[in-house]
Amino acid sequence: MQKQPFGTADGLPVDLYTLANKNGVVARIANFGGVVVSLDVPDRKGKLGDVVLGYDTLVSYLKDKDYLGAIVGRYANRIARGNFTLNGIAYVLAKNNGGNHLHGGVRSFNKRVWVAKDVSNREEQALELTYLSKDGEEGYPGNLAVTLIYTLNNKNELKIDYAATTDKDTVINLTNHSYFNLAGQSGGDILNHQLIIRGDRFVPVDATLIPTGTLRSVKGTPFDFTEATAIGARINQDDRQLKFGNGYDHTWVLQERTKGGLHPAAQAYDPKSGRRLEVLTTEPGIQFYTGNFLGGSIGGKSGQIYTRRYGFCLEPQHFPDSPNHPSFPSTVLKAGQLYHSTTVYRFSVGSR
Ligand code: GLA
Repeated sequence: MQKQPFGTADGLPVDLYTLANKNGVVARIANFGGVVVSLDVPDRKGKLGDVVLGYDTLVSYLKDKDYLGAIVGRYANRIARGNFTLNGIAYVLAKNNGGNHLHGGVRSFNKRVWVAKDVSNREEQALELTYLSKDGEEGYPGNLAVTLIYTLNNKNELKIDYAATTDKDTVINLTNHSYFNLAGQSGGDILNHQLIIRGDRFVPVDATLIPTGTLRSVKGTPFDFTEATAIGARINQDDRQLKFGNGYDHTWVLQERTKGGLHPAAQAYDPKSGRRLEVLTTEPGIQFYTGNFLGGSIGGKSGQIYTRRYGFCLEPQHFPDSPNHPSFPSTVLKAGQLYHSTTVYRFSVGSR
C-alpha cells in the first residue's frame, strides 16, 4: 500500500494511503478524520472517475464544516439539545447545531488524527485506523476505543468494518459521511441520479431535524424510493418534511431487513456514466442527505466548487436521537461489550 505525507495536525503526521485493486479502482484515505479523499471507479466505458467530493489539502479538511468523506462519531446525526440520560445519569453534550448536538460535537472523529496500520493480505488491500476517545470527550461517558478497517476488494467493493469497546456504558452511532457524485466529483448536481432506498418507512423530523418519535410509511410521499426514481423528481414538492430538510435529510428504516446481517440498503445510478453504487449495511437505518447545505465556501478538488446538491450522502446508521427514544433500536454500548457494524459500497456499471 502506498503512503504519502499529507501534512500535520495536532503536531502529528498525517498520511494519505492509497488502496488499489486489480481493476484499477483506487481509494485514497487519510488518517485525519478517516477521510475518503478520493475514490476512482470505472464508468460503462471503463474510464475511471473520482466519485466522491473532497479537498486537495489537509488544511481544507481542517476547515471543513460539511464532513466531506469523513468518519463521524461518537454519535452520527442529532441528539436533541445534546441531552440524554443513561443508567439514571444525565449527560450534557455540546450544542453545535442550533440547539442540538450534531455528529459527535465540536471536535468529532472527523477532526482527529487516527493511528494507521496496513492490514492488507494477498487478496485485498486494507487500512486499519484506531482512535481512543477519552472519557468525557465532547461530554460522552467512557473511554471508547474505536477500530475501523477500510478494505478494497477485487469486486470493486469498499468495505468499512467498525468496532469499538468502552469501559463505561455509553452511546455510539458511527458512520461515514462521503458525498457521492457518480458522474464524477466535478459532475454538477446529482438530481438526475436514479435512487432506490430499500425501506418503506422513514423517520419524520421537526423543524430542527429531530425525530418526532413516530415512523411514517413512504407510500404516496416524495420519500418513496422503493422503485428507482430520480433524486430530483420530487425534491422541490410542497412537502413539510422536505421543507424541514431543505430537501432530503432523513433516515429511512431498514430495521427488519438488517436483522440477518449485511443487507442491500440503497442503490444509486447515474444514467450518463453508467456508474452504479450499491450500499449494503448491518445498520437499521440509512440517512439520505442531498447536500442541501453545501455552500462552496472551501474550494474542492482541482478547484471545483461544490454548491447545493452537488453530492449526495447515503449514511448507514442508527436513527437520530435514539438515546431519547426508547422505541428506536438501541445505541447503547455497555462496558465490556463489543460494538460492530459493517457497510459495503459496491460499484458496478449499467447500460441503461
Ligand atoms: C448530515 C445532516 C445534515 C447536515 C450534514 C452536514 O447528514 O443530517 O443536516 O448537517 O450532515 O452538513
